Amino acid sequence: MNKFEKYWKNDDVLKNYPEDVAKMFYDKFFKLPTIGKRQYKKLYNQPLRKTKLKINVVEFVNEVQQYKTCFQKWGNKKDKGQRWGLPLVNETGIIDEPDDTIQPLDELFFEKGKLLMDVEIREKTIACMMESLQPLRKLYPYLVRSAILKWHWGAGFARHRDMELPANHFRLWGTCSEKMVLKIDDQEMRDIEAGRIYLIDTSKFHEGWSKQNHLFQFFLGVNLDAYDTLESICLN
Ligand SMILES: [Fe+2]
Repeated sequence: MNKFEKYWKNDDVLKNYPEDVAKMFYDKFFKLPTIGKRQYKKLYNQPLRKTKLKINVVEFVNEVQQYKTCFQKWGNKKDKGQRWGLPLVNETGIIDEPDDTIQPLDELFFEKGKLLMDVEIREKTIACMMESLQPLRKLYPYLVRSAILKWHWGAGFARHRDMELPANHFRLWGTCSEKMVLKIDDQEMRDIEAGRIYLIDTSKFHEGWSKQNHLFQFFLGVNLDAYDTLESICLN
């Protein structure tokens, strides 16, 4: 088995698709510039790494109300509960429906034939201007596909990985409420602080679900140029 075949057979999503389709996704994904595994592991030295960035949850939840009609359904899967997204960075910089970036990108490719990678999605929307998101501004020069997620009770994502190393971008994450469960490599993450932004190692298997309605999360991506900035904002 060559490298592709091995990847295809082992990937939970890719294995459900024909070889030529899976190969297209694989070829594009692995052609993107990447960062060495050792350097990645140095930055992502724990599954969830605390940063200095913190959002004031009360201010944010108030402010995001002005966008409440702009959230779109996250993907078509009926069994994942009520998941919604508001784009911070999408393809056009305009909040409009339908937004192809507000869904899993593998679903976008396999269901609609559009092959789009996180790092290609670079246009910030007006939602980035929210005052309460000021603590994230350091990341703005590097921001790629990013969104505010809103989950209702029982919504979540099943155990999956977003990428195999070497990484082609970096992911950060935060939640506005502790009333959610996040597991990374089957370990439940404890002491998650509401509003705190973390580096999240999405090369590890992760899953999560919400135990309340209107649970907001920060789903952030930055390109590889953000490395030094990320290092400088880490707390431990
Ligand atoms: Fe993920």
